[in-house]
Amino acid sequence: MQDLSTLEDKTILTGDRPTGPLHLGHLAGTLQARVAPQDKNDVTILVADMQALTDNAGRAADVAANVREVVLDYIAAGIDPDRVTIVRQSDLPALSELTMLYMNLVTVPRLMRIPTIREEIAQRGFGDGTPAGFLCYPVSQAADITAFGADIVPAGADQAPLVEITGEIAGKVNRMAGRNVLVTPTLMQSNAPRLPGIDGAGKMSKSAGNAIALRDNPEEIRAAVMRMFTDPGHLKVSDPGKVEGNVVFTMLDAFDPDATAVEDLKHQYRAGGLGDMVLKRRLDGILQELLAPMRARREEAASDAGLVGHILEEGRKRAHMTTMETLGDVRRAFGLEGRPGRSAALTELVSLGEDCEAGKVHEGLVGAISASHTRFSA
Ligand code: TRP
Repeated sequence: MQDLSTLEDKTILTGDRPTGPLHLGHLAGTLQARVAPQDKNDVTILVADMQALTDNAGRAADVAANVREVVLDYIAAGIDPDRVTIVRQSDLPALSELTMLYMNLVTVPRLMRIPTIREEIAQRGFGDGTPAGFLCYPVSQAADITAFGADIVPAGADQAPLVEITGEIAGKVNRMAGRNVLVTPTLMQSNAPRLPGIDGAGKMSKSAGNAIALRDNPEEIRAAVMRMFTDPGHLKVSDPGKVEGNVVFTMLDAFDPDATAVEDLKHQYRAGGLGDMVLKRRLDGILQELLAPMRARREEAASDAGLVGHILEEGRKRAHMTTMETLGDVRRAFGLEGRPGRSAALTELVSLGEDCEAGKVHEGLVGAISASHTRFSA
């Protein structure tokens, strides 16, 4: 990942599908990188439950339940919900409406050509049975990114084609509007290689059962390290071993703070005379040290029953206004009213009113009326 800690005044959006607990792959990929810029930028993290449903409609209850787990994982990883907006995708109706409008700007063959989509269709064995929602999730992701006006999207290389199609859609909307209503985003690509699963068979994923989750306990971590794929040809300690494709080394490269020591170990391993157990014990120590404080933060947050709900409600309030404003611009680009079925002024008033906290409706509406008066009489 490029150094995100140097970014300032950017609007940054990232997201995860809540299909399972976050794991070391997420940590090495984008989680660590999201912590750095949270002070000096406007960072939003989207818990993309609508996107998760595009290939998980059969396990909708799991998706809903995982939202909470993922938010706890963010806190565990050091994301501060006071500085970062954490928001659930399904709480923002503007995103769905933007998706519907953008779908008119993208052809089915264009979607079918996206490498990420092709790979995922093959992986999931959809064949001719690809859900329409799944084929269109890149459009929905374009809605996410443009709705927030994000200029930076930190993500893995697999997300590059999605950021690209977002730029195409933004260009079309801007031409329709005759002005730049949407921002063209830039991908900030993680240069951390995709972390393999502990079996070395593919990328780390919960569904493949080859992950170490951030919330795993010390015994689970140790057991996973002990099962980790190394070099099947490395039978005796004295045999020369292979470093490439050896998951223990990949993990050490990702998480061992002492890169020089790791290079020394690789040298010894290749030459022969270094056993897998020595490496695994080292890795176990490193992972235990890395994950223990995360587990503690997670447990503390989880013990506060109302916390996640509160974080999501705060996030929704903040993000609702931003995304509705973008929707208004896009609706007008399509020749529609800025808001459905009402004059713009009334709609704005109602939505401001809806955003008042319960019990403060009067105060909120008075504020809303004066804000909208200033805006519409200007
Ligand atoms: N597609 C992303 C993933 O699978 C999740 C996602 C949804 C996302 N909306 C986003 C990422 C917007 C970045 C920006 O991990």
